[in-house]
Amino acid sequence: MDRVLRPVHRWVWRDTGRRVRKLLAFAEVETDGGRDILRAAEVTPDPLLRRLYLAHAIDELHHGVLFRERGAELLRERGGRAGALFNGNPLPGGHGLDDVSIEDEADARLLAFLHVAEKAAAGRFTIYRDLVADDPPTHAIFEEILRDEVFHMNYTYTQLARISPRAYRRQVWLARASRVWKRLLRLAAAVVALMGSAFLTVLYFVVLPPFAWWARRAGRREPAGWAPISAQADAPPTSQY
Ligand SMILES: [Fe+2]
Ligand SMILES: [Fe+2]
Repeated sequence: MDRVLRPVHRWVWRDTGRRVRKLLAFAEVETDGGRDILRAAEVTPDPLLRRLYLAHAIDELHHGVLFRERGAELLRERGGRAGALFNGNPLPGGHGLDDVSIEDEADARLLAFLHVAEKAAAGRFTIYRDLVADDPPTHAIFEEILRDEVFHMNYTYTQLARISPRAYRRQVWLARASRVWKRLLRLAAAVVALMGSAFLTVLYFVVLPPFAWWARRAGRREPAGWAPISAQADAPPTSQY
């Protein structure tokens, strides 16, 4: 899918404004992911997983710092000029770690979720790294982060196979299916919002004009200024109407 969207990725990364926005958005996702994994380290009963989660969380928080600093640096170099059109983020971010809820997640499900998210991040960061070849500091950041993501992808799979030797494939499959399902829901919500806007625009330009025309015509027929009241209106003046 990401390969199909490559031209869109190229378009996003070409503009410095969009690049800055993307880096700052990644910084947020990585930091949030780091915090969630830190929480997972607190709640897991497994001592080995606790150590690995802790190392993982430190990596993600470090990625957040790297992205934030590079984004801020590019912003300063750019002199804080107003951004180009469509500064937003038409494609999802690197990790998708923000989808996870640690509190009621068993380790097997969490590891499966992390494995799928890290694999997606590794694939996407490979594309981004190639697209920012013109910008050596950003390229170096992606290179460094990519190495960590590959480690995260591998250790989550190995640990999942250790704690759930019978069902680890099924867990990964479920995590992948749930990720696709969430993406579909997001896409459906976006399409419905777009259709709503299109429908209201059509309504505004097609259905309302006849009424506006009719109201204007009726307005022209009304006499201007004071008008005599009709002869039947002989009710006593007890009301201002
Ligand atoms: Fe990361
Ligand atoms: Fe990661």
